[in-house]
Amino acid sequence: MITLYYKLRAKLIPRLLRGMTRRQPMVNRGPGAGPQLCAQLPLLGFKRVLLVTDRVLLEIGALDAIKQALDDADVDFDIYDGVQPDPSFEQVQAGEASLRTCAGEAVLAVGGGSVLDTAKMISLLHSNGGSLADFAKPKLNRRPGLPLFAIPTTAGTGSEVTPVAVITNQQTHEKTAVADAGMMPAYVALDPLIMRGMPKGITAATGMDALTHAVESFLSRGSDEETERQASAAVRLIFRYLPVAWADGDDLEARDAMALAAYYAGAAFSRTSVGYAHAIAHQLGRVCGTPHGNANAMVLPEVLLAYGECTHERLAELARRAGLGQDGDPPQALARTLIDAIVDLRRQMDMPLLPRGLKHEDLPGIVEEALSEAGKLYPVPRYLSAAEVGALVRDLLPASQPQELELSPHGN
Ligand SMILES: [Fe+2]
Repeated sequence: MITLYYKLRAKLIPRLLRGMTRRQPMVNRGPGAGPQLCAQLPLLGFKRVLLVTDRVLLEIGALDAIKQALDDADVDFDIYDGVQPDPSFEQVQAGEASLRTCAGEAVLAVGGGSVLDTAKMISLLHSNGGSLADFAKPKLNRRPGLPLFAIPTTAGTGSEVTPVAVITNQQTHEKTAVADAGMMPAYVALDPLIMRGMPKGITAATGMDALTHAVESFLSRGSDEETERQASAAVRLIFRYLPVAWADGDDLEARDAMALAAYYAGAAFSRTSVGYAHAIAHQLGRVCGTPHGNANAMVLPEVLLAYGECTHERLAELARRAGLGQDGDPPQALARTLIDAIVDLRRQMDMPLLPRGLKHEDLPGIVEEALSEAGKLYPVPRYLSAAEVGALVRDLLPASQPQELELSPHGN
């Protein structure tokens, strides 16, 4: 009965997502694209904006070129720099108060996924008012947010091309995903110069997040020709350029390619949704505070193995498009080549393989929530059983924890 309900939802969700992503951002790309976008603001009719960012970026001077470009273009701006990782609705409200005070005509977000998500919500809250509970409910007749200009400083979340923002309750660590067509950024600049300072750990984590978006999108039952093209281009770029960007953060060609890969992967998954790697990664984030990209990297190959035979043809097709394997390799071998390449990539970048602080008693809750999230939201190629997800999560326990696991057969 539950599986039937999940299957019905799986058909509905890609249709809803396509409706919400009809309007796509205008994109500037290449070294200097960020300041160039700022220079266009007056041409587009904006003379006063709120610049949303975080304090660390400001302090390390990552926004100096952006601020200079705004000054040069005679654009007045106030700065809201209170965004923190896993932003809360209180931060959104504080940012919206800044927007009102400066009478901003648009919002300019410069930062990682948390900054972009907060800026989207500031813009939407400004136009509509309301509480987080109001925004959590889908609503068709909300007013669009103020125009949003997005300049990502990381290459991973794809938030610059999705109409979704994730807001966290700081007390319960519960996350609410707000989705609204009116939150899609209007203009995006993909600027490798602003990504040069990204530390190795963040380059690896965000890059693996983008890879997970692309692979899960390609496998989604909601994928179509266009999202397949975007997802496979992202996978090809990531295998070629993520190790380069990780090894040499100043390599502009690699940074540029990764910015594009994250954008393609974001464009793809914003229409198809994701899968079990994300469902489990979100639980590792909630329970252990594992950074999202690291959590995805810990489980993506294992989730692909767990899907088994039903995904061999699709993974083989993705491997071919990504330039992996040999002509004539059978699907199973190509699928395995792709999975092995993901394992190699995370090993090459010294990524952590186990979440810190995971305890045996956390497992039943993680399994239950992951099954529920994937079942309700993701058009996955196959619904996994509680035992399958349980086995996958149990392998993330440190050796010091008991390894046996009893689960109720809920969800399947
Ligand atoms: Fe993600």
